[in-house]
Amino acid sequence: MLVTGGAGYIGSHVVLALLEAGQDVLVLDNLSNSSLESLARVERLCGRAPRFVEGDIRDRALLDRLFAEQRIGAVMHFAGLKAVGESVQQPLRYYENNVAGSVTLCQAMAAAGVFRLVFSSSATVYGEPPQMPIREDFPTGTPTNPYGRSKLMVEEILRDLSLSEPRWNIALLRYFNPVGAHPSGLIGEDPQGIPNNLLPYISQVAVGKLKELAVFGDDYPTVDGTGVRDYIHVMDLADGHLKALAALAERNGVNVWNLGTGTGYSVLQMIHAFEQASGRSVPYRIAPRRAGDIAECWADPALAEQELGWKARRGLAEMMADTWRWQSNNPDGYRPASA
Ligand code: NAD
Ligand code: UD1
Repeated sequence: MLVTGGAGYIGSHVVLALLEAGQDVLVLDNLSNSSLESLARVERLCGRAPRFVEGDIRDRALLDRLFAEQRIGAVMHFAGLKAVGESVQQPLRYYENNVAGSVTLCQAMAAAGVFRLVFSSSATVYGEPPQMPIREDFPTGTPTNPYGRSKLMVEEILRDLSLSEPRWNIALLRYFNPVGAHPSGLIGEDPQGIPNNLLPYISQVAVGKLKELAVFGDDYPTVDGTGVRDYIHVMDLADGHLKALAALAERNGVNVWNLGTGTGYSVLQMIHAFEQASGRSVPYRIAPRRAGDIAECWADPALAEQELGWKARRGLAEMMADTWRWQSNNPDGYRPASA
């Protein structure tokens, strides 16, 4: 099994789950947004290390060599850039990494006769959905930024690919909002610089690295005026990947599954739940809406339950407790603690 981007946040949790399930794992990562420490900790947790190659998914010669030299039956493809604001500033860099990189990966897979692929997509491909909860058969919408468009483009490329060659079997996993960490507190999300996403920001405020949270808008038509999202524990997400991979053995073509819990929480509900779990207070102020945000977004997870036998099991309190354990044990993420 080849895992691209396997040193990153979601990838490292999936690599651990794969190793625990007895799979042989090869990670390819250019470490542009991660460090090898995540995989060292994976080894501490399960007593086995994945094979690791530092390199880029855009490097066709490297990919050809890996497929020739290693036994690879399937690919889980996490590698990509994911900062929305940065994607607006540097669209070509995003399209090159996320779109061109995925094309190169698929070319190398096809040349090597490997046709099984699990792709990290996002609920962002739905754009502004007509109603909640969001089902997989809703039309894709217009994502509001180059990052989101890069995900939708790759989805469309993969559909065309599958039409052209029936041996492909592909899972498009549309993640809602991944949060949390392994319950050991050893691996978790390690954003570089100031976090863009809500929960990493909240936890850095709680640990004292940031002063206060800006709540982006309190005048949305939601339960308390703040934005509502479907937060999903990364451990549940990892289980979903293993189930999707297993299901692909009996499926052809492109399969789309939402990975969400089916429950939405507002920003204020998230703040309060985090305060409860951590015993810390999270100062916040109301700020203007963030451009490109929608009021609410949550999944209908029924199809994944039906077809994969997968369901998110971990609730909000567990997401918060695990995030806090990771953040308080590793205030500087994977970097050595500053003196
Ligand atoms: P992450 O940044 O922690 O992990 C991505 C990994 O890919 C990093 O280790 C990075 O070094 C590596 N990488 C980036 N470009 C590469 C390249 N060209 N070649 C090789 N390696 C490369 O991000 P994550 O949160 O773990 O996300 C994993 C995937 O899931 C991404 O594709 C992301 O777009 C998608 N996704 C994430 C979220 C989320 O909220 N975290 C939501 C929806 C979808
Ligand atoms: C964002 C991205 C989306 C990406 C997803 C997961 C945008 C427009 N969308 O989605 O493309 O797939 O992350 O990586 O950036 N919030 C605050 N204060 C903050 C941060 C967030 O109030 O400092 C609010 C937001 O307005 C939103 C909620 O918290 O209502 C969640 O935000 P975030 O974690 O950034 O996720 P999304 O907006 O769902």
